[in-house]
Amino acid sequence: MRILITGSNGLLGQKLVERCKKSQINFLATSKGENRNSDCDPNDYQEMDITSLDEITYVFKKFKPTHVIHTAAITNVDYCELHPEECKKVNTDAVQLLFEISKKMNSHFQLLSTDFVFDGEKGNYNENDKVNPLSHYAQRKVDAENLLLNDRDYHNWSIVRTIIVYGIGKNLSRSNLISWTISALKKMNN
Ligand SMILES: NC(=O)c1ccc[n+]([C@@H]2O[C@H](COP(=O)([O-])OP(=O)(O)OC[C@H]3O[C@@H](n4cnc5c(N)ncnc54)[C@H](OP(=O)(O)O)[C@@H]3O)[C@@H](O)[C@H]2O)c1
Repeated sequence: MRILITGSNGLLGQKLVERCKKSQINFLATSKGENRNSDCDPNDYQEMDITSLDEITYVFKKFKPTHVIHTAAITNVDYCELHPEECKKVNTDAVQLLFEISKKMNSHFQLLSTDFVFDGEKGNYNENDKVNPLSHYAQRKVDAENLLLNDRDYHNWSIVRTIIVYGIGKNLSRSNLISWTISALKKMNN
């Protein structure tokens, strides 16, 4: 098994790197720009902007992943509202690039999606409930999901609709519930 992790500088990506190392699974960590996770050996890291077909092609040819865990995304919902084109490019169009090349290499493609695909009115959703995205971020995740769901020929994929991802990471580009609480408490003590 060879797992390609996208978004390895992000919180979930960092936790996946940790998990692969612990379980001695062969993996390649990728993210945009330089490696900011000091727990990830430089030999296990390759810079890869998911919007660049050239960079994706280079990495897939070199590493030949059996599995792709696609965590990379613009995850700031407000930013996506203000930058809809960029949100589409990263959160939908890049998924198409990654999914197409995964199909060519017969790699399992796992897409990280979100509970935001639902409007929250009903609650206790199951996977067959109708989606009703209320933001650009959520709509682009639905569009990305549909690329997989509407593919009649390729079934080697999965979608994970996770909810609030929180925890401690290295040099994260944005805060989460836990990191925000810790820094707020520290400020109160100063
Ligand atoms: N966070 C949540 O509460 C939550 C809830 C539901 C679903 N999800 C989904 O779960 C997944 C993981 O979330 P997370 O909390 O780990 O997010 P995160 O910490 O924001 O990590 C996302 C990573 O993607 C990277 N990235 C952005 N654009 C890229 C590009 N063009 N090429 C390569 N990498 C790029 C970011 O790089 P930089 O660090 O350089 O910006 C960041 O490191 C995401 O797909 C998200 O939509 C998250």
